[in-house]
Amino acid sequence: MRRILTGIQSSGTPHLGNVLGAILPAIKMSQEEGTQSLFFIADFHALTTVKDGTTLQKNILHTAATWLAFGFDTETHLLYRQSDLPQVMELCWHLSCLTPYPMLANAHSFKDKKEQLHNVNAGLFFYPVLMAADILLYRANEVPVGKDQQQHLEITRDLGQAFNTKYGETLVIPEAKINASTGIVPGTDGRKMSKSYGNFINIFGSEKEIKQQVFGIQTDSTPLEAPKDPETCNVFQILKHVAPPSLSEGIHKKYREGGYGYGHAKKDLLGAILSTYQKERDRFDEYLETPEMVFQTLKKGAAKAKGIADKTLEEVRQRTGLTFH
Ligand code: ADP
Ligand code: TRP
Repeated sequence: MRRILTGIQSSGTPHLGNVLGAILPAIKMSQEEGTQSLFFIADFHALTTVKDGTTLQKNILHTAATWLAFGFDTETHLLYRQSDLPQVMELCWHLSCLTPYPMLANAHSFKDKKEQLHNVNAGLFFYPVLMAADILLYRANEVPVGKDQQQHLEITRDLGQAFNTKYGETLVIPEAKINASTGIVPGTDGRKMSKSYGNFINIFGSEKEIKQQVFGIQTDSTPLEAPKDPETCNVFQILKHVAPPSLSEGIHKKYREGGYGYGHAKKDLLGAILSTYQKERDRFDEYLETPEMVFQTLKKGAAKAKGIADKTLEEVRQRTGLTFH
């Protein structure tokens, strides 16, 4: 049985990049024979940036509702909240005692913020160790993520190997699964779509909000009549993942022919988002109206995950000498 695991931080409402880069590929993998999937809401990680309890709770509900709206099967698999299993914090400590300082100092997630060290809390610095613990605690074999998480997966493998080398084979070394086409979905400004850049498209927003985001996508000033290059256009680079292939091919052709402006493309993208995700948008809203059901599902997932977490931690404690025989 291959075990698939991934997490999404509850630092906002999951956006189109999260859905295309992580959620959909993960759900697809969960439907393969001989797999068990553990998908979770990384709420401890979210504490590094979200400092308001009400907002955090809303984000947790939205993140869980996204997994459910996209049809993740929680009868067969597990959906849970990271903080329901504090075992992860203990494994995080064991791993941190094997983590060389430069490994964290060189992590992109920290390095990018180095210029503003006064804004970096220790939790943010420590973020990759907690992520490694998330994965190693549940003995995951494969971790579907976007390309931006590749380095964190390398750190996870290094820490798992360091533990196994020091104490003997204990932890499973996981592999990152990065989708070749949707590993980096661009945002409205052409950079990677991210909650932290404010360049995202919220597919669960109101039609008005989505319209604003789509019409805010940056384009060049090629006139309407002139042929355009869909490969360098942010609108098409998003549209090609959202629209059905027949529609996307037709639009690709219109770009090349000219007489098709960026305004037309944005209108087509808006239409594609609304029709492709209509069912998911409706279901998302239904889940928000029945939060108790969502929380129950998370509790059920946590109860099942506990068996795996306790077993790994017990073995780790024995190996490190914390358990007396
Ligand atoms: P954000 O950068 O918006 O805070 P997260 O860090 O919460 O997103 O990412 C959750 C998951 O979604 C991760 O697996 C991450 O790699 C993936 N992801 C985030 N943004 C993108 C993107 N623009 N394209 C593809 N995958 C993405
Ligand atoms: N760091 C991931 C992100 O920001 C979220 C995450 C936390 C995660 N723990 C994980 C992803 C474990 C995969 C596996 O996107």
